Amino acid sequence: MKNIRELDIKNKRVLIRVDFNVPMDDLGNITDDTRIRGVLPTINHALDEHAKIIICSHLGRPKGQRQEKFSLLPVAKRLSRLISKEVTLAPDCVGDQVREMVDRMQAGDVLLLENLRFHPGEQANDPDFARQLAELAEVYINDAFAVAHRAHASTVGVTNYIAQCAAGFLLQKEMDYFHRSVSDPRRPLVAIVGGAKVSSKLGALRNLLDRVDKMIIGGAMANTFIKSMGVGVGQSKVEEELLDTARQLLDKAREQGVKMYLPVDCIVAEQFDAKAETKITTIQEVPQNWMILDIGPATTLLFSEALDTARTIIWNGPMGAFEMDAFSRGTMAMVQKVASSHALTIVGGGDTDVAVHRAGASDNISYISTGGGAFLMLMEGKELPGVVALEAKV
Ligand code: 3PG
Repeated sequence: MKNIRELDIKNKRVLIRVDFNVPMDDLGNITDDTRIRGVLPTINHALDEHAKIIICSHLGRPKGQRQEKFSLLPVAKRLSRLISKEVTLAPDCVGDQVREMVDRMQAGDVLLLENLRFHPGEQANDPDFARQLAELAEVYINDAFAVAHRAHASTVGVTNYIAQCAAGFLLQKEMDYFHRSVSDPRRPLVAIVGGAKVSSKLGALRNLLDRVDKMIIGGAMANTFIKSMGVGVGQSKVEEELLDTARQLLDKAREQGVKMYLPVDCIVAEQFDAKAETKITTIQEVPQNWMILDIGPATTLLFSEALDTARTIIWNGPMGAFEMDAFSRGTMAMVQKVASSHALTIVGGGDTDVAVHRAGASDNISYISTGGGAFLMLMEGKELPGVVALEAKV
């Protein structure tokens, strides 16, 4: 896969696909601009090269229709502030008006196209829509790791109509860290997998078992594993239909010599409520009417010791319902442990980065992925369509 530095973009019209799908509050204020900051190296490089910079992104899921609440206007303003430069928001992403705006661009101008998903052709990877996008530019750069798992017109189709295509610095960095952590890691490699459901991580669990030396399982998904061993978990969330699968995964780990770590104690409550009474019990003693909502102190110690010798740690998914303070200790303790490790530490996927940010530990993690679904797809051992499309161009 080529990267942006390998292409001559001087004075050229460069279409940069980014993922500006950022969280916003009800008033349309951006609540976390990590994804915007993540592509600044690519945009700044293009500015240094005096390119005409045409940026495109999706925001939310407007289902192929124009909906003002999904406009990229707040993003244009934030980007403008971050690069100290005017960023013009085009009224659409394709069409005559946009083409005219592009024709008038001078070297160093920055134009943000309106939400790609206002057109059904984007998610359908419609060739005609992809061609219209491609016609705007001479060079295509994909720096949208977080949406590289989607085969859409702006991530895949467009590469059929532009000869010069390459990855931006963020996409390149994400893939480099992935290779260093999973394809070719320094060992021991330890995976920490948490979150609510085994079902959403089944592919990742299967693939990781072939690659890691140790696997730590926490979060509500651990309940299914615990119950699969014949231990009662009270009213805790369990995926009954996956009990056999969980047992098979434990068998597979044993056969392959992968050490599996499951909780030995936990924080339980009678209700899933921040104010509910809580107590610590061993896993064997979870009361019938109570539910597990976090790992306990003995488990934190056990998991921490399992991480002591790690040279690479990859983490996806929290250890408990950390959005409520009463059930956040386990996840926060793991953040501190991972952050203080000398291993290469990679964190990815929705909630895990939120926990790391909340603990103020971001600077002590080797790499925090900007992708949720894309990160998980890599963990599943699958290729990302957006990356495959770029590789095909070399
Ligand atoms: C994400 O936030 O995971 C990406 O932007 C992809 O969004 P999507 O799940 O709506 O395709």
